[in-house]
Amino acid sequence: MTIQRFLLNDKRHLIGIMAIDEAGGIGKDGIVPWDNPEDRAFFKAQTMGHTIIVGRKTFESWGRKPLPGRPCAVWTRNPNQFDSHCFDLPLLALSDVYALVEWGFAQSDIVYVCGGKMLYETLWSHLTDLIVTLIPGNWNCDIQMNMDYHAFECVQRLQFETCSVLHWERVG
Ligand SMILES: NC(=O)c1ccc[n+]([C@@H]2O[C@H](COP(=O)([O-])OP(=O)(O)OC[C@H]3O[C@@H](n4cnc5c(N)ncnc54)[C@H](OP(=O)(O)O)[C@@H]3O)[C@@H](O)[C@H]2O)c1
Repeated sequence: MTIQRFLLNDKRHLIGIMAIDEAGGIGKDGIVPWDNPEDRAFFKAQTMGHTIIVGRKTFESWGRKPLPGRPCAVWTRNPNQFDSHCFDLPLLALSDVYALVEWGFAQSDIVYVCGGKMLYETLWSHLTDLIVTLIPGNWNCDIQMNMDYHAFECVQRLQFETCSVLHWERVG
């Protein structure tokens, strides 16, 4: 089960995708503290085949490897430490976040902004959509998102057994 609504029109979509707990937490000690297989499967199905943009710290938490089947753009002040390909996937590391977004759209019409907090906040005003997984409980995270939904409208909800996913579209 994935969100396909934005595939119905031909606009480019820059989509922030994240999972948050009941306290707004997204990360702890450099990783995501929960392991939710339904959300993992949803994230994989939702993003597969599309470009993802990720902050360097989040990329580190993935073991410095791009996710299979998804071109990867890494935001960092030290791009020279990265190769241009990893496991046969194009990989671009830059300090210019807008150049990363343009590169992403050269690969696919849908680009996913996959965190962390610094990257979400930097691109927030440019996001066309938000896909937010609500994770039950308070995981005592050390990184919280102050979600500002005022420019967005919730248009869809997917209910899984162990989490739910909200799709927000920009209206203003
Ligand atoms: N729950 C979720 O959905 C989710 C999703 C993603 C991540 N997370 C969690 O979020 C946490 C990481 O988030 P974070 O906010 O600490 O880090 P982040 O956004 O993943 O990465 C931050 C990095 O971005 C680069 N950066 C920041 N400002 C920059 C600028 N002006 N120019 C160029 N590069 C810049 C820097 O890389 P350099 O230091 O290399 O210069 C900085 O260290 C982890 O706990 C992770 O597990 C959670």
